[in-house]
Amino acid sequence: MSKIILTGDRPTGRLHIGHYAGSLRRRVELQNSGEYDKTYIMIADAQALTDNMDNPEKVRENIIEVALDYMSCGLDPEKSTLFIQSQISELCELTFYYMDLVTVSRLQRNPTVKSEIQMRNFEASIPVGFFTYPISQAADITAFKATTVPVGGDQLPMIEQCREIVHRFNSQYAPDKPVLVEPEALLPQNEACMRLPGTDGKAKMSKSLGNCIYLSDPADEVSKKIMSMYTDPLHLQVSDPGHLEGNTVFTYLDAFCKPEHFERYMPDHANLDELKEHYQRGGLGDVKVKRFLDKIMQETLDPIRARRKELEKDIPAIYEILKKGSEVARQAAAQTLSDVKSAMRINYFEDMEMIRRQSEKYNA
Ligand code: TRP
Repeated sequence: MSKIILTGDRPTGRLHIGHYAGSLRRRVELQNSGEYDKTYIMIADAQALTDNMDNPEKVRENIIEVALDYMSCGLDPEKSTLFIQSQISELCELTFYYMDLVTVSRLQRNPTVKSEIQMRNFEASIPVGFFTYPISQAADITAFKATTVPVGGDQLPMIEQCREIVHRFNSQYAPDKPVLVEPEALLPQNEACMRLPGTDGKAKMSKSLGNCIYLSDPADEVSKKIMSMYTDPLHLQVSDPGHLEGNTVFTYLDAFCKPEHFERYMPDHANLDELKEHYQRGGLGDVKVKRFLDKIMQETLDPIRARRKELEKDIPAIYEILKKGSEVARQAAAQTLSDVKSAMRINYFEDMEMIRRQSEKYNA
């Protein structure tokens, strides 16, 4: 069976280092690994509209931002198909048929939907499109027969819901020869990358909380954000013992620090474990650790920023790439939709057997 990647992001803002640690960095590695037959990367504008129906301009404006962020991180249109969700109308058709395979109570139990409803204060007036977006996300994944979905930890319930839909579809409509493919989530390698906290130590990076470091932030902006990051409120003097739990600077180090960074930027410590021990023992100041993190982040972000500068010079070319990608994606989705409709036997005009049978019934 071919190995196919599909994943994507909602275009509601520029992408930040949480996206990078959680999934983007991994996607680029997977794309370049040569192990996958196809890689599809989707800008999920239709899904973004499910909770931004009052602000379509935001979604529209951010499509190019996400595309620039993707390509500056190394997603390469020669190797991956980059496309825009709304341009693939087949996804809506698939969604409509999958809706019959999911109950309202199952959607209500989806933990991601549940917490998002709370976050947005939707309790009393949940848009139906928002409520059902896990079904549309299952269409996104299955339309490309994706086997592998690299995502952050918060998306796990979506993949689980998708697998259930696939299972129900195949057992109902294609028991002998499965039509849809059950995808696997590919989660970040470590806990820190699963859900990178905001610079203020709050659970999640989010634009509305103003606690994000964006991939496209200028270097001095990144330094400023790092120097004002939340650490350990009890660590008042350098000599005090410090705590690691909830200490954002150390969480970021867990996500971004590589062994070679010590040689380069912190030669008086051997590795991250030793640095943590020193901090806990006392005698290691926050400023020193923050400067170290700053060096690492600049090293990580410099090439991304440089590539973005280049890409920004030819914006029409980026839209052209998305247009071409959408055409390619559309063909793949159309094939799946055709398979789905055949399995459901709503391909009436190709069903010569049925036409003949109906004909005989009336003309025996
Ligand atoms: N829900 C994802 C997010 O919020 C975006 C998304 C839409 C997605 N469809 C997808 C991710 C399919 C993986 C697979 O970022």
